[in-house]
Order: sequence, then structure tokens, then C-alpha cells
Amino acid sequence: MENKKYGHFDDAHREYVITDPKTPWPWINYLGNEDFFSLISNTAGGYSFYMDAKFRRITRYRYNSVPMDNDGRYFYIKDGDTVWNPGWKPCRTPLDFYETRHGMSYTRITGRKNDVEASVLFFVPLHTWGEVQKMTLKNLGNEVKKLKVWSFQEWCLWNGATDMENFQRNFSTGEVEIEDSVIYHKTEYRERRNHYSFYSVNTPIQGYDTDRETFVGLYSEKSMPDVVAEGTPRNSWAHGWSPIASHYIEVELQPGEEKDLIFLLGYVEEKQEQKWIAPDGSFSDKDGLDMVINKAQAKKMIADFNTTEKVDKAFAELQAYWDNLLGIYVAKTGNDKLDRMVNIWNQYQCMVTFNMSRSASFFESGIGRGMGFRDSNQDLVGFVHQIPQRARQRIIDIASTQFPDGGCYHQYQPLSKRGNNDIGGGFNDDPCWLIFGTTAYIKETGDYSILNEMVPFDNQPGSEVTLFEHLMISMNHVIKNLGPHALPLIGRADWNDCLNLNCFSWDPNESFQTTENNSEGSKAESLMIAGLFVVTAKDYVELCHTLASKNIEHSTFNAQQFEAEANRMSEAIDKMIAAVKKDGWDGEWFLRAYDFAGNKIGSNENEEGKIFIESQGWCTMAGIGLEEGLCDKALDSVKERMECEHGIVLNNPAYTHYHVEMGEISSYPEGYKENAGIFCHNNPWVIIGETVAGRGNDAWKHYTKILPSYVEEKYQTLHKVEPYVNCQMVAGKDAFRPGEGKNSWLTGTAAWMWYTVSEFILGVKPTYDGLLIDPCLPSTAKEYSVTRRFRGAEYNIHVSNPQGNQKGIKSLVVDGNPVEGNIVPFSEGKHTVEVVM
Ligand code: BGC
Ligand code: NOJ
Repeated sequence: MENKKYGHFDDAHREYVITDPKTPWPWINYLGNEDFFSLISNTAGGYSFYMDAKFRRITRYRYNSVPMDNDGRYFYIKDGDTVWNPGWKPCRTPLDFYETRHGMSYTRITGRKNDVEASVLFFVPLHTWGEVQKMTLKNLGNEVKKLKVWSFQEWCLWNGATDMENFQRNFSTGEVEIEDSVIYHKTEYRERRNHYSFYSVNTPIQGYDTDRETFVGLYSEKSMPDVVAEGTPRNSWAHGWSPIASHYIEVELQPGEEKDLIFLLGYVEEKQEQKWIAPDGSFSDKDGLDMVINKAQAKKMIADFNTTEKVDKAFAELQAYWDNLLGIYVAKTGNDKLDRMVNIWNQYQCMVTFNMSRSASFFESGIGRGMGFRDSNQDLVGFVHQIPQRARQRIIDIASTQFPDGGCYHQYQPLSKRGNNDIGGGFNDDPCWLIFGTTAYIKETGDYSILNEMVPFDNQPGSEVTLFEHLMISMNHVIKNLGPHALPLIGRADWNDCLNLNCFSWDPNESFQTTENNSEGSKAESLMIAGLFVVTAKDYVELCHTLASKNIEHSTFNAQQFEAEANRMSEAIDKMIAAVKKDGWDGEWFLRAYDFAGNKIGSNENEEGKIFIESQGWCTMAGIGLEEGLCDKALDSVKERMECEHGIVLNNPAYTHYHVEMGEISSYPEGYKENAGIFCHNNPWVIIGETVAGRGNDAWKHYTKILPSYVEEKYQTLHKVEPYVNCQMVAGKDAFRPGEGKNSWLTGTAAWMWYTVSEFILGVKPTYDGLLIDPCLPSTAKEYSVTRRFRGAEYNIHVSNPQGNQKGIKSLVVDGNPVEGNIVPFSEGKHTVEVVM
């Protein structure tokens, strides 16, 4: 296969620069950081939504369409007979120059054709429910240019799912209003919706269209809409069918002249009583023949961004926002490829996964999944240092979907924050993740008050207990659900959603993910949960000790009770470790599970799926059997059996046929997804396991194999998906095309890569008392520094490793004073930290 380059990093601007529009797959970016979000590809494809990609979809997108990625915010420029788009699509007119720069929450797409340059900056200003599209048109030639410019976007009828299904209704509901240069989309505003959207431009327009059939033509293509071909707008008003928004603007440019057109796609919510305005200017809650929608808020937003100066200011604010966020942890290692991931892209991806969970990407349709319980807890570990207050709220939202027995809804909808009944609960790893997320938050912030927050069960008012009690019942859920070997029962599945040991499905019409499980009488136990329990229960015990020793006030527990709780859980940990050593060790590695009938999974005795990554990762992270050499053995087995050029596969050998007793895992062809794909998410577990065992060289090697900047340099064509972020899965060694990436952006890999490199490789780890310094390096690494802002203080940490050791520090000097151990005690102000390994 050819190995082309489609772009490169520009670290000084924190951008990835795409120089060829025909990337092997659309390479996208995300705009928006809080409520209003957009996806944007390198050819301006994508869509926008408010909070929830299913219930508040603003613009329409057709996934998996032909040609690929053919819906977006498009600008048609007609210059004489030539029609082109700044981002090449959908006309695909060859450009004289093309460049897309994906940056931190913005994208700039520039095209040039016949001496005209059109450069469009797309971003969602901070605290704004809208996407700004600032188009700068420039005449680079010597002749006057008379251009015709059309904008084009297609409205989604709000519900991203029914929009694609319910045409008997949808084709009759569409409604718009047009006033001045603004097109308002008000479908269903007459009834229960109190929101509308609009698309404006900051200049008088010479025409518009809002009906898709009129603008594009029923049998025409977006590459040449009828109106654009003809050169004249038709001023159509959509009544049902498919409402769109297209402005028509005539632009004349003298040689060398430059003009900005500022478009704004906005979303507005209105109070019931003042949704409508009558001709006399009075408000009404009801539509009527001569009523129009209340446009005041839209006009205010438009006025906020109607000049170049205002837009540039908003853009500068967005950049300052990112400067600040990315100033919290800055590494200087002398290795560009490492620095750009640590300091820029990995942290950026963490923000995106925190915001989106697994809802909206070019692989996740935004209608399938809400926020995952386990996913969101893991995501927040990658994000908590950025904006801890948002992580705090997230923890409370997540915990509010828990059941009184500690079980959890597996997902919830971001808009309603309610547990999702379609998928339900019963994934027995879920409760542990709440400990993982909450302790990370408290270590970062020192904010113990979160444990006193009153949090309901299943969002039922009146059921509230403190968050600490949620943690307690989470732990209890594990120890109350043990199987015949005193190992945790797996339930519907553990982290591996596809290892469905209680499913037994022969019906292709049922989803493995939602079908009723037959856990009655099941002996299915999980070694992954066993390891996860040990890791998170140790965190819980440490938290209890800390609460006791610091005498932290709590509404239901006192210091003595926290101590007793720590002791109770320490015993449970010991028992779990003993159970793993007794019945979870296979001789050379940790078993993966016992199935419904009590047979081993992930054992040398099996013909396929002899070894799995999850239990090697979690049991080594937990340090189970470290002294007896079990961790080293398990990690060596990983290298021997599961490592390949592109990373570590999930299991080996891959399943070659469907095993009804295992479910979805064996539904995938060999080398893909959970069946021996390189599931990037769990590679860091092994990497952390390597650091626990002190094997820095191995940790580094595993880490760089899936580190985007390393992959980018080697294989852009083969890897296919965006080279600046991690993807969920890279085809494994048994696949048809090993190394091919899929499911980019929304993956727990982002948070785990961050957690791994920041806390275990570079080794700067927040603890209750301060920063723990515990690097684990390849022996080639001789020195580096990290600047870490932490609870308002700033630490400038310099690590030197003259002997090329892999682990262990010899001395720690803080502000000139030697410190015992490896914790830099927290104190306010600026500090220098000298570390020698
Ligand atoms: C995928 C998993 C995913 C699950 C739930 C499965 O089809 O293979 O990776 O966790 O669906 O969405
Ligand atoms: C993706 C899901 O979002 C995550 O929750 C799950 O753990 C992995 N797939 C593995 O199946």
C-alpha cells in the first residue's frame, strides 16, 4: 500500500495542517466546549447539536453516504462559470491551493481558485450557543472579481433518530421564517418545542432559499445545485419537505481587496409565555396566522458577532482559554513527538471525550448512545485537571443514575440526565469506576466536600444519600456479587461489552448489548473486575484513611467509622487477591474469566482465546503477585503472544467462529474490535502494569506503538483515521489489513493515554497530600521537566536520570530542601522540584 502524507503537525500553532482534501477518511475536529457542539471535517462536512446529539440535532448529517461525508456547512463560490468550495467539497472542483488547519476548538479551511482566496474560520465562541463561520474573501489577482456566493446548510428536524425514519410525518412539519439576512428554522416550535435555530450573515443578502428541492433540485446533486448552476436564487420558503438555509450574496472585489462575511448558526431557547410576537408587538404563548417567533435572543447573539473585530475578539478569547488549559501540565522532554501529544493533542482529545462520551463522531451516530457510566468516569480522569468544577458536576450526575444496591444504569442521556432504560444495567464493573473517577477528582482538587453532596438513586427525589455512601455501596456491589471461586460475577459484561457470558443468543435480530441475560445460576466470573476491584478498593481504603486522619467532617461518618470502613475493605482486598492467586492464575498469565458453566476463559487449556489483555492489565496494575513474579510473567506473556507491530491485541488466538457461550466477542472476524483487535483503550493498562513492575523500556515501547504522533510519521494511509488523536481500535495482527484504524476520537484511550504518560511514565501524580514523583522511563531518557499547576500552586519539576535507570528516585529536593520519600507536599505558591533517579 502507498504511504502518502496528507498533512503535518504545526506545534507552534497547536494545529494539524491537512494539505490534501482526499484524506483516507474524513479527518474531523470538534468545535464547542460546553453546550453547543459541532463536528467538522477537513472538507467542512459535519453537523451541530445542542447538548444532546440525539434530541437536539440542529443540522442534518447522513452517515456512511455516497460520496462519503456529503453534508455540512458549504459555501459555493461562482466566479464566471467556475463553481468551487473553499474546502473542495461538495463541488470537488480542483483547487489551486487547499489547506485545512484543525486547532484547539476551531478549524480554518482555505481554498484558492483563479486568483480568489476564501478562508473560513469555524469556531464556537465561549459561552455561546452558536457556530461562527468567518469567511475572508481575497482577490489575489489584478482584475476586478464579481463573485456570487451561496451558503448552504440543511436543517435536521431536531430528533436525530426520527429525522431519519418518520418521513410520513417529517415531510409535513418543516417551517421557516426569513427576516433581513436571517433564516429561522422553527419546525415544531408551534407545539412543544421552545427552541429554534437560525442562520445569519452580517451583510444584506440578494436572495435566499429555504426549500431543498428548490435549491438543489430533486434529481440534482449537491456538487451542482440547480440554483447555483443557474446563478439566481429563487427565494423559496419551505413548507414541509426538507427545510434548508441558503443565503445568496454578490461580492465585488477590487484587485488586492479583502472582505469578511460572518455567518452564524445559532440555537435559542425561549420561555413559553413569550415564544410568539403578535403584529402589535405583544407576546403570546401560541402561534397564529399573523404571529412570528420572538427573535430577540437571536438578534442579540447576531449583534454579538456581526463585525470582524467582535469575532476576532471572541476567537482570541477562545485561544486564551486553551492557552490556560494547556498551561496546567507542560512537559519538555526534548522529544517533539512526545511533547506534542502530552502538551497538545492528548489533552485536547480528553476534553472532547469528556464532552461527548461516545455519542457523536463519524463512527458514533449520536443517536445510539448517551453518556456511559464507566466511560464517563474514565473520561473524567483525563480531564479533571483541566476544569475540576465540571468534573465535579459530572460525578454527581453519574452517581445519580446508580441504583440503591450499587448497580448502575449503563448509560444516561445528557439532556435529561436520566438512566437509559433501553440498555438498563447489570454490567458488574460499572460501580468500581465511580471510585476511580471520584478519587481522581479529590486528589486533584483536595475538595472533600463532594463526599457530602446528597445524591439520589435513579434520579428519584427523596432517595438521596451522600456521595460517600454511593462509593461504599459501589464497593459492596462487588463483594456481594461473588461467584464460586470468590471472584466477581461478571453480570451482563465487564469492561469488555462483548464478552457476553450470560447471553446465549441465537437470534440475529436481538442485540448482544440489550438482550435479556440469563444470569440465573450463572457461574460466570471476571478476573478483569477482580483486578479493577483491587485497584479501586485500594483507592477507597486510602480515601477512608485520609478522611479519618485529616478528620474530614462528614454528615454520616466520623473518623472512627472511616477507619472501620478502611479495615473492612482491606480485608476484602486481601480475600480478592487470594482468590486471584488461587483460581485466577493460569501458570504463565492471569485467566480472563469463568463462563456460565464454570469453564475457564483465557487459559492455555482453551484452543482459541488463550490469553486476554484485560486481566493482565488490571491484575498487574493491582500488583497481584508482584513479589512472586506473577506480574513479570504475565507481562512477558503479553509481549510474547499479544504484541505486534501496531500495539497489543485484545486476545490471542483470535476466535475463528461464533461461540454462543461468549457472545459478541466471537461475532467479529479475526483481528477486529474485541476479537483480537488492538483495542487501544486497554493497551495503557498493560503499560501501567509495566510501570508498576518497573519495566520502563517495555512501557515506553508499548506506549509509542499507539501514540498518534509516532503512527502519524509512519503510516497515514494505512492508519486511515485522524493522525492527531487516538482511535478506539487498530486492526490486529490476525486482521486482513493490520494497522488500519477505526472509530476515531471518542474512546477511553484518550484518558488512559493521558493518565499513563502524565502519572506513570513522566510520573507526576496527584495524591491527597501533594504530588507524588515516580517516573518510569526508558533507559535512554536522561532528563526532562514538567510544569504542573496543582490546586492553585505551580511546580517546576526537573528530573534527571544520569544513569539511565528505569524506575526509582534517589533524591527529591523541593525549593532547595531535601525531602524524604517521593511526595512533594502541597503548599501554595511557586516551587522548584529537583529529582534525581
Ligand atoms: C462494541 C463495543 C461497545 C458496545 C456497546 C459493541 O458492538 O463492539 O465496543 O462497547 O457495542 O456500544
Ligand atoms: C466501547 C465502550 O464504550 C466501552 O464502554 C467498552 O468498555 C469498550 N467498548 C469495550 O467493549
